[in-house]
Amino acid sequence: MKVLAILYNGYEAAQAEPRLLGTVENELGLRSYLESQGHEYIVTSSKEGPDSDFQKHIVDTDILITTPFHPGYLTREVMDKAKNLKLCVTAGVGSDHIDLNAAVERKIQVLEVTGSNVVSVAEQVMMSILLLVRNFVPAHEMIENGGWQVSEIARNAFDLEGKVVGTLGAGRIGYRVLQRLVPFNCKELLYFDYNALPAEAEAAVGARRVQDLKEFVSQCDVITVNAPLHEGTLGLINKDLLQHFKKGAWLVDTARGAICVAEDVAEALASGQLRGYAGDVWNVQPAPKNHPWRHMKNPLGGGNGMTPHYSGTTLDAQIRYAEGTKTILQNYFEGKPQEPGNVIVGLGKYETKAYGQR
Ligand code: NAI
Repeated sequence: MKVLAILYNGYEAAQAEPRLLGTVENELGLRSYLESQGHEYIVTSSKEGPDSDFQKHIVDTDILITTPFHPGYLTREVMDKAKNLKLCVTAGVGSDHIDLNAAVERKIQVLEVTGSNVVSVAEQVMMSILLLVRNFVPAHEMIENGGWQVSEIARNAFDLEGKVVGTLGAGRIGYRVLQRLVPFNCKELLYFDYNALPAEAEAAVGARRVQDLKEFVSQCDVITVNAPLHEGTLGLINKDLLQHFKKGAWLVDTARGAICVAEDVAEALASGQLRGYAGDVWNVQPAPKNHPWRHMKNPLGGGNGMTPHYSGTTLDAQIRYAEGTKTILQNYFEGKPQEPGNVIVGLGKYETKAYGQR
């Protein structure tokens, strides 16, 4: 079979650090396994435009491996050209770069390495919440720039203790965030999700479910977004919804950039409606140099905690998703059943409840 992997270039870092498995150079560690089984393995970072390797090879690829960090966008139109495609494997979590409805129609299976980086992201969420609430980034920039004016930083720095924190999406990551928030003695932990948590899980973290989205956002000092991107979440956090946020709330999105409308978030930050915004996911990746989220600031010159998309690609996570990708491939080639939680789209149907209510 022909296996095509779209990965990001790691350049010198990948040569020096073999645990950067999710790079073009280190090929998810799959080459010797795939070739020993007689498969052809093509690895490239070239994914944009009609002359890209992605477009060239997809026409006769049997298995496509992609990562959310450098997404090869498998649209309906691209799928139309992919006559041999049977299986898409996301090395990581989050398969929104694939048109899942089109995959259902064409009986192309979509699997991901569920759980492989959920702790990595939950830790990033905690870091992002803290760096916004405590006004860390401007404080650090002041130091690097040779300054020392504590009042300039402290005027916009708060404690997380006593705040209301809510997660939009309380699945594997959202729940881990709630667990990690418990010792911070927040005033209340809330969640919004059409799938309710089991009562014991709710009780274990002391979280309360709010079923109306506007009501949910209006009660939170901090909101963390932990839902997949699908028809029901695309552009969900927009100008209208932002008006229902508490004035001066902090928003963290490490799920998918397109859940938020980029310009509306930048405006809300500039006006002070949001006090801070942090995340690592963007509506286009790599983000263009002039993307508003690179330079947006609150009226006091801070409140931007953006990074490139890396929360789920720590070295620890890369080992887990590279191993998980190999297991999925082995199961596929050997006709063994897949881990049910890894199957997003099975043969002609969604197997997950996380990509919208159907
Ligand atoms: P999960 O499937 O365990 O949980 C997702 C939860 O979101 C489910 O409980 C689902 O019911 C809920 N949900 C779906 N639509 C919703 C809506 N409209 N409103 C409220 N809740 C909704 O997924 P997991 O592992 O927690 O990951 C969540 C997302 O995080 C992934 O789909 C991916 O997009 C993103 N992610 C980001 C990473 C990064 O590196 N920044 C790495 C891993 C995941």
